[in-house]
Amino acid sequence: MSNNSNTEAAWNYHEATKHSHISVRTNPHSLDFANQPLPFKIYPALEPSRLPTEVRQTGVAALSAIASSVPAQTNAAPDLEAVAQLLYLSAGITRQRKYPGGEIYFRAAACTGALYEVELYLVSGDLANLPAGVYHFAPAEFGLQRLRAGDYRHVLIEASGNDPAIAHAPLTIVCTCTYWRNAWKYQARTYRHFGWDNGTLLANLLAVATARGLPAKVVCGFVDATVNRLLDVDSEREVAFSLVALGYDSGLSAQSGPPSQNAPRVLPDVSPLGFETVPLSRHEVDYPLMREMHAASALDSTEEVAAWRGHTPPRSTDTELTNSPPPTGPVIELQPPSDAEMSGDPIEQFILRRGSSRQFARTPISLPQLSTMLDRATRGVPADFLSSSFDDPGRSQLNYLYLIVHAVNGLASGAYVYHRDRGVLECLKQGDFRKQAGYLGLEQQLPADAAVDIFFLADLPPILDRLGNRGYRAVQLEAGILGGKLYLAAYAQRLGATGLTFYDDDVTRFFSPHAEGKSAIFLVAVGHSVKQRS
Ligand SMILES: Cc1cc2nc3c(=O)[nH]c(=O)nc-3n(C[C@H](O)[C@H](O)[C@H](O)COP(=O)(O)O)c2cc1C
Repeated sequence: MSNNSNTEAAWNYHEATKHSHISVRTNPHSLDFANQPLPFKIYPALEPSRLPTEVRQTGVAALSAIASSVPAQTNAAPDLEAVAQLLYLSAGITRQRKYPGGEIYFRAAACTGALYEVELYLVSGDLANLPAGVYHFAPAEFGLQRLRAGDYRHVLIEASGNDPAIAHAPLTIVCTCTYWRNAWKYQARTYRHFGWDNGTLLANLLAVATARGLPAKVVCGFVDATVNRLLDVDSEREVAFSLVALGYDSGLSAQSGPPSQNAPRVLPDVSPLGFETVPLSRHEVDYPLMREMHAASALDSTEEVAAWRGHTPPRSTDTELTNSPPPTGPVIELQPPSDAEMSGDPIEQFILRRGSSRQFARTPISLPQLSTMLDRATRGVPADFLSSSFDDPGRSQLNYLYLIVHAVNGLASGAYVYHRDRGVLECLKQGDFRKQAGYLGLEQQLPADAAVDIFFLADLPPILDRLGNRGYRAVQLEAGILGGKLYLAAYAQRLGATGLTFYDDDVTRFFSPHAEGKSAIFLVAVGHSVKQRS
């Protein structure tokens, strides 16, 4: 049995990193500001080449961009300007704030603790104004550092078990996560944050790709060691977490398509690079639990990757992972407005304006606003862990959405479950649950004051049965992507949003018996912000 299929590791990690009333009170951890990690990966010897800052506006409405994707086989390739826009609107520095100990560089996507543990790398063929190579994105300089010259896409094709999107992509972005940068504050729970924070970033990236007319696909199935070696990261500290294939070139298959079993293939030299990087802190604290979780979810060979992908749920035929059981309680039809009735303001405008709500006003939102958020955020994610079909991003989903409604005009306050396939909310219980919501969201004020708290819960046993420990990466990542889309859908309607952490088992208990057996994965609160960024 491979490591990945022995799912005890995911269960152990999940149990050991649950928050509870007791666990937060008995944890002696405090923040050592003198040892705070650097927010950027710095290669002192590599001069970044600056990316263009003048980019054309996409003009595509935010609520369209988050809800759709470009058909997979649409011939399109990003040029340098598109690359700059994709990077800026997903991981660029969009604002900065001074504080007594220094300065925080806030980025385009929300991130736990503003610690930004996700790094981006490009693996590309020749693009307009960007020669083929492997590059690291340096947000502080808004530039690219070239790690390798030449076309290394073969390595990713091989690593991804010939994923068709990777095989045809002019560009793949590799997202890595750096343990210490986030674990400094969150300790071993950081491995969950990898999925959340990579996910919010991907929500932006996917929306911008759609707005630029580029097909995009998130790929979680790859041979970890091969990708890490290509980037030459120290995999005890930083690991590849997801790949995003961008664009499509139908002519690529002849040169770099699936390798034949018999033909000898010359792989590019992926010898170590040995570039120096600046240490993040004076010293790092190791939390072995996360590295064990990562190792246990690694895929070790092309064959293992191909078999893993074969286990992903096909489009809606699989009710096990796709649809919740039919509603048995009272249902309320959602009222999503048509495209014509929605704000047409472009996606980039809302990404630049986005910032997590720090305080919600207790004023109600409307049912069409809530409907728009739920409908637009859950129309599907093009990802290898959701659909085995290249042409169809599919509607399968790993997370279920449960809501605590506090203030929505036309909807009684209470607990609900969202039936995405039917476009309805099923009422589980009515009542004013502001106090309980504040408690569930780690005793914070934000979830108590929000108009609605949207909890993501997953039925982990079938997910881990199918996808092994790597299903745990996928379920966290999907929650982050959907949460990131909710952020954007809220902002596109002049509302606010924030991601939140939670007391795991108390969340399940609150939504039970309906949620019995499910695990709490993520939480987003939405409502009217007291201060809305303009
Ligand atoms: C997954 C996730 C969890 C978060 N959890 C909390 C939280 O528990 N409490 C809180 O006040 N903010 C939380 N935040 C908001 C972050 O602190 C915020 O994203 C970060 O400071 C960056 O600021 P910005 O989103 O305004 O750019 C969370 C954000 C994310 C993405």
